[in-house]
Amino acid sequence: MHAPTVYLNGEFLPREDAKLGADERGVHFADGVYEVVRYFSGKAFTMNEHLDRLRRSLDGIDLPYDAPEIAAVSDELVRRNGLTDARVYWQVTRGVAPRDHVIADDLQPTVYLSAEEARPLAADEPLPTITAITTLDDRWHNCWIKSLMLLPNTLAKTRAAKAGAGEALFVRDGRITEGASTNCFAVFDGELYTHPADRFILEGITRNVVIALADELDIAVHEQAFTAADLPGADEIFVTGTGTLLASITAADGKLVANGRAGAVTQRLWAAFVALINNTC
Ligand code: PDD
Repeated sequence: MHAPTVYLNGEFLPREDAKLGADERGVHFADGVYEVVRYFSGKAFTMNEHLDRLRRSLDGIDLPYDAPEIAAVSDELVRRNGLTDARVYWQVTRGVAPRDHVIADDLQPTVYLSAEEARPLAADEPLPTITAITTLDDRWHNCWIKSLMLLPNTLAKTRAAKAGAGEALFVRDGRITEGASTNCFAVFDGELYTHPADRFILEGITRNVVIALADELDIAVHEQAFTAADLPGADEIFVTGTGTLLASITAADGKLVANGRAGAVTQRLWAAFVALINNTC
């Protein structure tokens, strides 16, 4: 297999030829933001929502770049790599400059995109199930920015993996904020609860799609946090994200959620989500 094609600063090139500057601020300071976009059957799912969030994140770190080419480059990258089902990674960093905490105002942003193959989604795809651990949310107070500063997330996810779990749920002041790379929902008495889209979570695009689907299915949604102490009493828990799509959490910290099987509300939302993807892509 030949090397995958990536995009770096205006050029499509083999991954092995794509080189970042040693003094890239993205490396020194995690000074940048990113998106991950899922393609199904050759078509991007929720492209505009990802573009909007990228621009909000760029604004959030005062990076004056409007990402004019990103959507077209993203589509082209999927095509050049011969993919139909893919995850495309978009990264915009501040650029190369001698290491200095103070941000100079004449920097050229570094724009990097890569694409990797993803498994196609069957019309009758079964709902994925995983287990979770809870862990201290020791991140900054601007989690709404999709920042490259993912060290707490990678450490949490690794703790989960070492415990044999698929996701780590962050706990801040007792409340579940979100997963290390997902948003988290719980069902109590047939109604859906999830942390409000404030500065303590990333406003997930999959999260918003699921909330809209719940509305259509007449499932009440409360953008209201629940606590780690509430987890054992939840009827259902699930997480959402571009990589994960939607996964039922069948146990948290080694304790089964309800009977340890995916619940009815999660199953209904999953069926509606798969149908939406198949209808729009
Ligand atoms: N992660 N919360 C966090 C902390 C995330 O990193 C992500 C996504 C989400 C879900 O957002 P969305 O539904 O828009 O993908 C929530 C991506 C996929 C990643 O880091 O790979």
